[in-house]
Amino acid sequence: MIIGFLGTGVITEAIIRGLYDAAHYEGTILVSRRSEERSQRLSETYPNVRVVDQNQELAEQCDWIVVSVLPQQVSEVLSELSIRQDQKVVSLAAGVSLDELRIAAAPATDVVRVIPMPPIEHGLGPVALCPPDDATQALFHRIGTCVAVLDENQFNLFGATSALMADFYDQVAGVTRWMNEKGLDLPTAASYTTALYHALADLTVRQPSETLHTMSADCQTPGGLNAQFLSRRNRVGANQSLIDGLEDILNRLESATD
Ligand SMILES: NC(=O)c1ccc[n+]([C@@H]2O[C@H](COP(=O)([O-])OP(=O)(O)OC[C@H]3O[C@@H](n4cnc5c(N)ncnc54)[C@H](OP(=O)(O)O)[C@@H]3O)[C@@H](O)[C@H]2O)c1
Repeated sequence: MIIGFLGTGVITEAIIRGLYDAAHYEGTILVSRRSEERSQRLSETYPNVRVVDQNQELAEQCDWIVVSVLPQQVSEVLSELSIRQDQKVVSLAAGVSLDELRIAAAPATDVVRVIPMPPIEHGLGPVALCPPDDATQALFHRIGTCVAVLDENQFNLFGATSALMADFYDQVAGVTRWMNEKGLDLPTAASYTTALYHALADLTVRQPSETLHTMSADCQTPGGLNAQFLSRRNRVGANQSLIDGLEDILNRLESATD
């Protein structure tokens, strides 16, 4: 099977690196000759990656077309192509609905939306899909944790939650900076914070979903340090602002897919 990526940006590179480095994928991948430095680098690094000059040429040579251009470019890029009815179209574009994709990709009807995250480069992280699709899940299962839903409104919940990424990095960096400003050297501070966040996240993955909500209470003792910190944060609305922020992003995604 040949997979062709329309768009050779940040997330295309992460997926390709994940497939070949983390999952030892052996199939052929085509990339468009866009972001020339990146497409060149990928083809030099991986013998099974080939750069193709024109989008139409790429579409003709692959079985799956992965749409990895910016959301506002999707309709135009797809509409300019002749896509075969038997081709699978996998769209990574945030907020571009299945209806819009099916119109732009006609006569192809096998259309799947996917949200990968940058850690996919290391074979890690969630990969949300809509609708569920065995073949697409089998591919992405090699480099992430697939979650698939039939309902596009539910899929938007994954899109909204994926926006936590910058806030997370901001928090890790902010805590590290605070320790550094208090006199701890930066490498030692970073070593501590990154190991802490990594270990805490790792424990959540091991937790059954039914008891995820008890983890916070379980690690607090009355009057203890964790209890004091959490109560201080919640007094200034940290928890509520998390939910409010997610609601904002969800509203934005829902209005885009109306
Ligand atoms: N980055 C993420 O973490 C992430 C996660 C999930 C989903 N996504 C989605 O994935 C898509 C790509 O995101 P990205 O972050 O990888 O964006 P990006 O780095 O800006 O890459 C966009 C790519 O599209 C290419 N392109 C633009 N017009 C084109 C055309 N007419 N034909 C072929 N290629 C064209 C660009 O080439 P030039 O550089 O030559 O213009 C570039 O290679 C977006 O829709 C985004 O919503 C991204």
